[in-house]
Amino acid sequence: MANLKSIYLNPEYMVKAWNQFLRYSDERAVISGWIDSNLPRYVTTQDENEGISILSIGGGTGEVDSHVIKSLQTKTNRILNVAVEPSRRDLKIYKSLVENRKEFECVNFEWKQMTSGEYRKSYRDKKTKFDLIHMIQMLYYVDDVEETILDFYENYLKENGCLLIVIASDNWNRFNKKFHQQPVYLNNLVTAEDIVEILHRRHIDCTTFKLPSQVEIDECLKKSKIGSVILDMITECEDFMNSAPADLFDDVMTYMKTDGSVANNGNVMFKNDLQA
Ligand SMILES: C[S@@+](CC[C@H](N)C(=O)[O-])C[C@H]1O[C@@H](n2cnc3c(N)ncnc32)[C@H](O)[C@@H]1O
Repeated sequence: MANLKSIYLNPEYMVKAWNQFLRYSDERAVISGWIDSNLPRYVTTQDENEGISILSIGGGTGEVDSHVIKSLQTKTNRILNVAVEPSRRDLKIYKSLVENRKEFECVNFEWKQMTSGEYRKSYRDKKTKFDLIHMIQMLYYVDDVEETILDFYENYLKENGCLLIVIASDNWNRFNKKFHQQPVYLNNLVTAEDIVEILHRRHIDCTTFKLPSQVEIDECLKKSKIGSVILDMITECEDFMNSAPADLFDDVMTYMKTDGSVANNGNVMFKNDLQA
């Protein structure tokens, strides 16, 4: 067990594993589809002259963020998008994705290379409030989930603004519960169920949506190189295939096979359920 290393201790590798995971899952399409069908209903222009202001926390390389922006351009073409992202590399890709693109000509982008905690400290007194704050697949990376959510909700969101959180749910809850006693998981195992509990406890109304998603795990079952990287993202542990004790490795593989299902094309799919 002592050999197991959390994937979060190696951010560069984490990004590689995350991208590999995305290649084998429908996560991006599922989130984008949900945004198109739902988000515009929840975000309103409170001042026609100002348009819509968006604060993106952990926007990564900007693919999902640009989708959020496009979905709201149906309401106004005046958009301010402030992206808070600690990774210099991700911000560079994000900028190249949106800069000089005709569809984003009217969008005012601001980039903050910092963590959510640094943003909260730096902008505490500036009183800039937003119509939409989103945290999409990022709350796993903060130590103080409850404090982060409440601070953004109470101090950075306009009245009638919308706070959007997209995060792992359902089967991840079961998976985490089964394996989280193992000292593999140094990161934050927060899921949608925890967020809903926090919001209810604080008497904050929320609407939840299930976003069923899947990741193909044939490569993991074949124990190929690609499969090893996908498995690292699932277990959140670097080189899990070679460093996990045999019984833990077998337990995880058996769980994945049992919980998985066979798609029409014969591929084995593992649930990657999310919730908004
Ligand atoms: C899994 S990616 C999600 C990116 C994007 N939201 C998406 O859905 O594609 C998580 C992102 O959160 C960023 N991140 C990690 N720790 C953070 C923190 N403390 N504050 C803000 N962002 C953070 C990472 O650099 C990464 O880009």
